[in-house]
Amino acid sequence: MNREQFNSKGHLLVGGVDTVQLANEYGTPLYVYDVERIRQNARSFVETFKKLGVQAQVAYASKAFSSIAMLQVAKEEGLSLDVVSRGELYTAIQAEFPTDRIHLHGNNKNIEELEMAIEQDIGCIVIDNFWEIDLLNGLLEEHGKEMDVLLRVTPGIEAHTHDYILTGQEDSKFGFDLWNGQAEQALTQLMDLERIHIKGLHCHIGSQIFETHGFVMAVRKLFEALNNWKSQYGFIPEVLNLGGGFGIQYTDEDEPLPRSTYVEELVTEVKRQVESMQIDMPEVWIEPGRAIVGDAGLTLYTIGAIKDIPNVRTYVSVDGGMTDNLRPALYHARYAAAVANKMNAPREQLVSIAGKCCESGDMLIWDVELPHVESGDILATFSTGAYGYAMSNHYNRFPKAAVVFVENGEHQLVIQRESYEDITRFDLPYERPY
Ligand code: LLP
Repeated sequence: MNREQFNSKGHLLVGGVDTVQLANEYGTPLYVYDVERIRQNARSFVETFKKLGVQAQVAYASKAFSSIAMLQVAKEEGLSLDVVSRGELYTAIQAEFPTDRIHLHGNNKNIEELEMAIEQDIGCIVIDNFWEIDLLNGLLEEHGKEMDVLLRVTPGIEAHTHDYILTGQEDSKFGFDLWNGQAEQALTQLMDLERIHIKGLHCHIGSQIFETHGFVMAVRKLFEALNNWKSQYGFIPEVLNLGGGFGIQYTDEDEPLPRSTYVEELVTEVKRQVESMQIDMPEVWIEPGRAIVGDAGLTLYTIGAIKDIPNVRTYVSVDGGMTDNLRPALYHARYAAAVANKMNAPREQLVSIAGKCCESGDMLIWDVELPHVESGDILATFSTGAYGYAMSNHYNRFPKAAVVFVENGEHQLVIQRESYEDITRFDLPYERPY
């Protein structure tokens, strides 16, 4: 999203639409998505695979932002879908997402989730633990069905956003460790089951990763195991799912690689390994969430109280906070901002943006340069499209904010703002029992 586009009134534009007008019409806080940007992000992955002539699935990790409208766009762009819960699967079904392109994840899938996946004939289940193998097999027998699966493994690469530390990584709640015998045990168990078809391996090394080295290392680790498994069990993968985690720009300090570069380097390494192992090229699947929606979204707030503590700090409070964007409080995540109604004014003031929640840690941005701000101004925070609405919550009983999609100069409400009735909808009065 272009963060600097504004009209003659000095109002920030998204997809050709005046964000100040959006704030007036829909209220704040407001999530705004540039749908064209979502499409471009999706296409840069999909088209790179096409260009390289590799069979692939680009599965949108819907945990980043799941809604019926979003999944419609994902479907239009030919993406597949990663879901991790019954709620995400239910949303996909409501969006009429083709179920054969849905992959179910989770470290504790329950009977209801697995049954729903089986009944809906989803594309594949990513097997995470031994308990799930037994559970799934039993359910498939009960339903008289079969299922394709991938085996989720932890390859021994731990990604710390910028750098990678090679560790055992055995100590993870997800998947089977590649090196302590458990992945191999799971593989042989799965190969023996008639109703379960083991298509290949899955690994995900982390999130917001800015280089390709960790991914390449992960591919090498997978192939170390695959070489052994080929000679011992004749197992040859049809699919390699290398997860998501491709980094995006939040602030100027972030320097993400082009999306195509991740794909090119992953594919190059897989091709190299496949040649030396002398097997057919498997399908390569990836699961980007943030890199599809993150930089396509922004949040609009109205500025309220401004507290200036001379020689210390100016707190500029907005009408949202950790309820609509938990990431600063949870991960010390950093964001860039602009005053949407003063885009042509110079940035001359160093301020900190405070949320409205009753919690000192509810700070959206520490130290950001903005034009002179006044109560009533509209603040935009950028790159809030991933894990923003998705992790929003009702702390302090704030209703969840609305979501608007913008495309081709038009805007459309795609998630309604919650009301105060919604906030108490599930509350029941207490009937004193004596
Ligand atoms: N695949 C798997 C198996 C994952 O666990 C995840 C993210 C993804 C794909 C998508 O990762 P992405 O491309 O979006 O980085 N709430 C955190 C991120 C947690 C990600 C969990 N898994 C945040 O706000 O940064």
